[in-house]
Amino acid sequence: MTNSRRWTDGATSVHKPWFWPPVMWLPGCIKKNNRATAVACNTTGAEPPLRNPNNSIGATTWSIASAILCIAMALLVLPVVAQKSSEFPGSTEDHVAAKGWWPTKATKPDNAYAGAATCGKCHAEEYSSQANTAMAKAALRLSDSKQVAEPPSGRFESGPYSYRLVASSDGWSLEVASGGHAVSSRVLWAFGAGLHGTSYLLDGPGGLYEAQMSSFSATHTLDMTPGHKTALEGSLEKAVGNRLSTRDAARCFACHTTASSVGGGLNPEKAVPGVHCEACHGPGLEHSKAAEDHANAKPIKTIFNPAYLTPSGSIDFCGACHRTLIDVALNPGSSGLSSIRFQPYRIEKSRCWERTEDARLTCTACHDPHEPLVRDAAVYDQKCLGCHNSRHEETLRPSTLRSAVAPPMCPKATANCVSCHMPKYYLPEMHSQFTDHMIRIVRPGQMYPN
Ligand code: HEC
Ligand code: HEC
Ligand code: HEC
Ligand code: HEC
Ligand code: HEC
Ligand code: HEC
Ligand code: HEC
Repeated sequence: MTNSRRWTDGATSVHKPWFWPPVMWLPGCIKKNNRATAVACNTTGAEPPLRNPNNSIGATTWSIASAILCIAMALLVLPVVAQKSSEFPGSTEDHVAAKGWWPTKATKPDNAYAGAATCGKCHAEEYSSQANTAMAKAALRLSDSKQVAEPPSGRFESGPYSYRLVASSDGWSLEVASGGHAVSSRVLWAFGAGLHGTSYLLDGPGGLYEAQMSSFSATHTLDMTPGHKTALEGSLEKAVGNRLSTRDAARCFACHTTASSVGGGLNPEKAVPGVHCEACHGPGLEHSKAAEDHANAKPIKTIFNPAYLTPSGSIDFCGACHRTLIDVALNPGSSGLSSIRFQPYRIEKSRCWERTEDARLTCTACHDPHEPLVRDAAVYDQKCLGCHNSRHEETLRPSTLRSAVAPPMCPKATANCVSCHMPKYYLPEMHSQFTDHMIRIVRPGQMYPN
């Protein structure tokens, strides 16, 4: 499979005009071989065909013609594919390094962004519903928020230290006390919409610190920030939290805010809290202007539309923040139950995906990124039944389904599929439950499969 971003990266792509609109069927012509990018022609994989092979021209003529076309396309594509043969499916670092837009990319200048309100002038539906998603609320700048409520109450005791959040005239601060002494650090940012929890970024000596303590929603308590260790006795300043390197801070902001790193460097002052339109679609001022300017009839070419990605590309796209299969594989620390938070990794490990790599299993097949998460298990049934049904001829799409066997039906139930096959697990460090996206048969007493 090839990286269809090449044909969709809008204004920055010089290739797009050549292949537009064949992007819809081209991926069928370039088949992936063992996850490498060996390019081979397979005319049966092309869907939909340019015209009916049995109509005006004979099947043989069609095959030859399409084979020639396929080779021609491959020749056009080959140099492009060869430049970056390892990128698909890839780590986020690889995707970001490639040409064109990818979420968390930080090289675009500040003045390339239009702001979500501008997008909302023309895309009112996406604008109003997206604002209610957890993603849009993934960060809060405390100094902006005059109306911010009282901080979570309570204390967190760890070793000799006692932590609490206090409200002050200019926002919140974290107070750490030990042996009659206390230090106080201003809270600059709250990260996380608070579905599971919220972590705090502090103003500390020499930069940003991630507070030692986070608040957890299910238990309404303060506790250790996941990944942190009890601070050693002796230094109140060190007990406050972990200093973030510039690189790590830039990574947090790239996933939880929009337009934080402009022109290559992190600029928290400019960051728009939360994941908004341009965090996913890329800077959109040029597109907005082109759309406003009636003389230019093609606003469509100036913005990234992830709808054109291949199924793996689409999962990797969400994986830019939710972590791709390869991101997790490259980071051995992210195995075990904690990997439940990395949905792209989990879903790509399920037989449903391994046997199909089908668009009916991408993140967007089940979640509309412009809408809040749907919590009703029954709503997901139709997604499963899109493949696991008795109409085998519909489910067996030879071009996408690698298995010759039709997906089986469930011997146990006909509804609420995800309640049994996508179980929820309690993750101790988050004091909360997460949904395992590795779709499978869960046997009683079975451990979480890594
Ligand atoms: C002045 C109106 C206007 C503004 C402002 C605007 N758009 Fe659009 N957008 C359009 C039009 C018109 C289209 C083409 C619609 C079509 O052909 O279906 C479009 C298409 C798109 C598409 C689909 C592109 C494709 O290739 O399929 C995306 C994604 C998009 N806009 C996102 C955005 C984002 C993000 C913003 C804000 C940065 C934005 N738009 C601002 C008018 C606008
Ligand atoms: C720029 C980073 C980024 C990208 C890209 C991204 N996400 Fe997210 N997503 C987040 C963050 C951060 C959260 C956590 C929000 C919170 O609770 O603070 C999140 C949370 C979610 C949630 C949980 C929402 C809820 O209401 O509980 C869903 C579902 C989700 N994302 C789906 C997607 C899908 C689908 C895609 C790809 C189309 C995607 N995300 C791409 C950053 C991103
Ligand atoms: C690679 C992208 C990425 C980076 C880097 C990242 N996050 Fe997240 N974060 C996410 C996504 C995606 C989610 C939602 C899924 C989940 O809960 O794991 C999330 C969830 C969270 C949550 C739970 C939100 C909720 O609603 O319960 C908190 C708190 C959080 N992140 C804080 C941080 C902090 C603080 C940093 C930096 C020190 C950071 N994150 C770095 C992507 C990222
Ligand atoms: C978390 C990532 C994410 C965010 C945030 C996001 N989008 Fe999208 N958007 C997508 C994806 C993925 C698609 C392709 C959906 C699909 O596969 O059909 C898309 C598609 C679109 C389209 C094209 C719809 C079509 O019919 O082709 C428009 C227009 C659009 N988004 C506008 C917006 C606007 C406006 C905002 C901000 C209010 C926004 N998006 C925020 C991920 C996102
Ligand atoms: C087959 C359907 C399906 C697919 C595909 C899917 N999800 Fe989910 N997702 C769910 C269900 C079901 C839930 C749980 C909803 C609830 O809380 O009841 C969920 C919950 C989530 C949550 C909330 C946190 C949690 O663990 O409960 C996030 C974040 C999320 N999905 C992200 C993604 C991403 C990213 C992808 C793509 C890799 C994806 N999902 C693909 C069905 C799906
Ligand atoms: C794109 C098509 C597709 C979708 C969508 C899909 N599956 Fe599957 N599923 C398959 C295929 C193919 C297999 C493997 C059959 C085989 O191994 O012969 C499979 C296997 C399974 C298995 C058996 C796994 C095992 O380890 O033996 C279960 C359980 C399952 N699917 C449940 C679901 C549920 C629940 C959903 C919705 C959340 C779903 N599937 C969505 C195609 C799909
Ligand atoms: C009450 C829990 C439950 C619900 C709800 C449920 N299943 Fe199952 N499913 C099971 C169990 C248990 C098995 C294993 C049966 C066995 O092998 O003994 C199974 C097996 C399967 C298999 C593998 C069948 C095979 O022959 O290998 C598939 C596919 C499947 N389920 C899909 C679904 C789909 C789709 C739905 C929703 C329409 C669903 N399940 C709802 C419990 C459930």
